[in-house]
Amino acid sequence: MTRRKKIYEGKAKILYEGPEPGTLIQYFKDDATAFNAQKKAVLEGKGVLNNRISEYIMTRLNGIGVQNHFIKRLNLREQLIKEVEIIPLEVVCRNIAAGSLSQRLGLPEGQQLPRSIIEFYYKNDALNDPMVTEEHITAFNWASTQEIDDMLAMTLRVNDFLCGMFGAVGITLVDFKCEYGRVWEGDFSRVLLADEISPDSCRLWDSATNEKLDKDRFRRDLGNVIESYTEVARRLGIMKEMPTVIQGGVH
Ligand SMILES: Nc1ncnc2c1ncn2[C@@H]1O[C@H](COP(=O)(O)OP(=O)(O)O)[C@@H](O)[C@H]1O
Ligand SMILES: [Mg+2]
Repeated sequence: MTRRKKIYEGKAKILYEGPEPGTLIQYFKDDATAFNAQKKAVLEGKGVLNNRISEYIMTRLNGIGVQNHFIKRLNLREQLIKEVEIIPLEVVCRNIAAGSLSQRLGLPEGQQLPRSIIEFYYKNDALNDPMVTEEHITAFNWASTQEIDDMLAMTLRVNDFLCGMFGAVGITLVDFKCEYGRVWEGDFSRVLLADEISPDSCRLWDSATNEKLDKDRFRRDLGNVIESYTEVARRLGIMKEMPTVIQGGVH
């Protein structure tokens, strides 16, 4: 048997060549990193949970017309995706002050923002993902003004949808990060939502208690990381198919 080709190994996922041209397989690892990989751990079951949660969210987003890379889940840790040319930006949408925004502007964590705020960061680990503006993005040709407009509009739609989806199950969407890429059709390209949307890339607080149910549990050593991700999956109603994840029985 020939081993399939590894295209890229990142901090949380591995990309393999897909079965058809223009497709990839995204494998979700259990590795957790924070602070630009200065902090590392293996959280057993995280990859399985994020694969399933991201599948669920991407499928729901596709249902409201937010075009994305997800094709289908293949197994517990892998999903088939459309290959895109990644736009080297992390697009962050914030509803409530937390994390670096709180630090930068001196806002107490938990303060409601006057409106949702979208920020762009240049995706470059060596530079620590610095924040950039639309000026930098167009000057360095990372994306066109049209693509920026598309990313802004899509991110706001994702935010509206996710606020409602999580709100309905007692979870507050504080902020999230997404990535976009382009697919080419002849001389024209379209922007698709890519990567993953999961508790690794969202801040999710229990609406009743403000308890954190996301990667901040790992970043801040709060414990019960997998239990919290499992709780998010359970509330979304997608836990039934994978009851043994947190018992460490799934690899
Ligand atoms: N549909 C896609 N096509 C090509 N690359 C993608 C797609 N979706 C996500 N990626 C890229 O694959 C990588 C996913 O692995 P990850 O562990 O998150 O990497 P990183 O450490 O770079 O964040 C990211 O670099 C992401 O930009
Ligand atoms: Mg990543």
